[in-house]
Amino acid sequence: MPLLEVVDLKKYFPVEGGVIDRLLGRVKGYVKAVDGVSFTVDRGETLALIGESGCGKTTTGKLVLRLLEPTSGKVIFDGVDITRLKGEDLRRLRRRMQMIFQDPFANLDPRMPVGDQIAEPLVEHGIMEWEEAREEAYKMLERVGLTPVEDFYDRLPLNLSGGQRQRVVIARAMALKPDFVVADEAVSMIDVSMRASIVKLLLRFKEEFNQAMIFITHDISVGRLVADRIAVMYLGKIVEIGGTEQVINNPAHPYTQALLAAVPTIEEKKLKMKLEIKGEVADPKNVPPGCRFHPRCPLATDICMKKEPEMIEVENGHFVACHHHI
Ligand SMILES: Nc1ncnc2c1ncn2[C@@H]1O[C@H](COP(=O)(O)OP(=O)(O)OP(=O)(O)O)[C@@H](O)[C@H]1O
Ligand SMILES: [Mg+2]
Repeated sequence: MPLLEVVDLKKYFPVEGGVIDRLLGRVKGYVKAVDGVSFTVDRGETLALIGESGCGKTTTGKLVLRLLEPTSGKVIFDGVDITRLKGEDLRRLRRRMQMIFQDPFANLDPRMPVGDQIAEPLVEHGIMEWEEAREEAYKMLERVGLTPVEDFYDRLPLNLSGGQRQRVVIARAMALKPDFVVADEAVSMIDVSMRASIVKLLLRFKEEFNQAMIFITHDISVGRLVADRIAVMYLGKIVEIGGTEQVINNPAHPYTQALLAAVPTIEEKKLKMKLEIKGEVADPKNVPPGCRFHPRCPLATDICMKKEPEMIEVENGHFVACHHHI
């Protein structure tokens, strides 16, 4: 049984109208941020979620951790549908699942010494008393390389570099020994020179605790380095999913091909054709009929405008939703 199973998950955000609409309780439409997504993640496995801005990656991550309520669908974590959990059960779940955001400031309290911020969740979750939690925080600071710890424990987030702040965030999440982590563009705001070491740090904890991870990134070449499997999202849907090497070496969806073609480090010979996508990112308030990628797709034909493609398996464990898969 996979640790996480997501079944036909949807999140539609109502579009805010004007004052009159609001007074009359009228909804102007919906942003279909996540529109029927299904996948699994095994214990110890990393799934990279890839796709351009606005395709629904962060929303998917938040739904999986119950930081957002889904419009419909199921999130089954360790055999339990967590979309209906409440109270103490939900609290216990929170300890097992952690999210690391792009902006470390968003994870941290600007007024609290960073050491105490690592200790606090341990106390809040009833795992330790403050004294013991402070010792644990001390050890965690050491483990994430913020040494000598005496110099770091009492600093405020503002007095750290971006990379150091993200190390604090990682220490805070990992102190709880979660089974499942969503890392959302965790290194994209960090200085390029620091990125590799922070990704390595994340992966070290992942190995140690045999964590499952969803690694969100818009950069398919970063996904390739960290993930066992890759899921490519487009406008609220997964259009291709499979083993990392399957997706990179044998991309079946024209959109995946185009993403790969844009990466200079991926050898061109691996791509059967060099596709370029046309036009702008589509608008999730106005999802095209049929295949939602068709207005930008160089391979689109009549059927693509009319019929939404279903997921089909092109090789073992490698799925694509495209009428003209490559
Ligand atoms: N709370 C909200 N209310 C209304 N619309 C939202 C909300 N959160 C997200 N959206 C919209 O849902 C869509 C998906 O957003 P999401 O943040 O999940 O995308 P993303 O793939 O993470 O993008 P990025 O790469 O820019 O982080 C976007 O159109 C976004 O504007
Ligand atoms: Mg995002």
